[in-house]
Amino acid sequence: MAMDLERMLQMIKDRQWALVDIDWDAPGAELIEPELHAKLKPFLSDLMWIENVGARGFAAMAKKAPNPTLKTIYEYFHAEEQKHANAELALMRRWGMLDGDEIPSPNVNVQLVINWLDKYSDDMSLSMLGTVIPMLEVALDGALIKFITDEVKDPVAQEVFKKINSDESRHLAVDYEVMDLLGQAKVRKLITEFVGAWASPSLMMGVLSYIPLLNKMRDNIVAMGVDEEKLYGAMRKYQAVGERSAFARRLPMFQLVSLHGRLVVNRDFVPYHAVADGLVKLTGKIPFGLVHRTPTWSQELTYEPAA
Ligand SMILES: [Fe+2]
Ligand SMILES: [Fe+2]
Repeated sequence: MAMDLERMLQMIKDRQWALVDIDWDAPGAELIEPELHAKLKPFLSDLMWIENVGARGFAAMAKKAPNPTLKTIYEYFHAEEQKHANAELALMRRWGMLDGDEIPSPNVNVQLVINWLDKYSDDMSLSMLGTVIPMLEVALDGALIKFITDEVKDPVAQEVFKKINSDESRHLAVDYEVMDLLGQAKVRKLITEFVGAWASPSLMMGVLSYIPLLNKMRDNIVAMGVDEEKLYGAMRKYQAVGERSAFARRLPMFQLVSLHGRLVVNRDFVPYHAVADGLVKLTGKIPFGLVHRTPTWSQELTYEPAA
């Protein structure tokens, strides 16, 4: 049955939380052992920027939303992703990982995706954005915190993770609902948009950023001591949940993102992983200063416990 978006919006409003709700100085920070401490900083730096990828994606979706309720929902999601980023910054600060007002940088692959989104996401159709963003959400934004929940014993972090996870469950519910809605368009429109998107070189550049991002994040997850199967399980969910909707199945981009997901989770499929890992290596050679751009919207980043 179709989701009642008005009710969903009300639920989103009711569940709002703020950084001030959390006692950032409560005891428990010492529960992060030095070994974990060293690994968490790069992991959280990437994650915090992935939240911003989500924020930017939702901002683009809000501009194209087919009705005012969905537009407002996306505006809330945009703000929630920024809040997640700020909460992760506040955790890093709590754990003494930041130098003064330092805003840590992401890895080069996350940065490339940010740059791409900044430049091209507003040109993408809703059906393209609406099928790719759910994969990023299910595999990275919504999943990375879950992967480390068992390892981080700090009760403050647990409280924060719980709030973020609850937000993410609503993001995913809406993501899938929108795929269902998008799939109800006429076949001709779907095909025209799909072909049109591929006709522009910008999408190819997006693909070239997206492919190494997933393999790089897989490597990071493994470096954190997390079984990569967890990532694959999350990625399989994209197809499994999407396929429950006969409409989502009609979206050419859904089929393509699903197919690509199957390649990523199949480590034995050497040709794909040779290319993807090759791209990780190649992009790893890019001097960070060359691609590093602080997006305009990142001024809103702060660990300050504001609303
Ligand atoms: Fe998030
Ligand atoms: Fe999200």
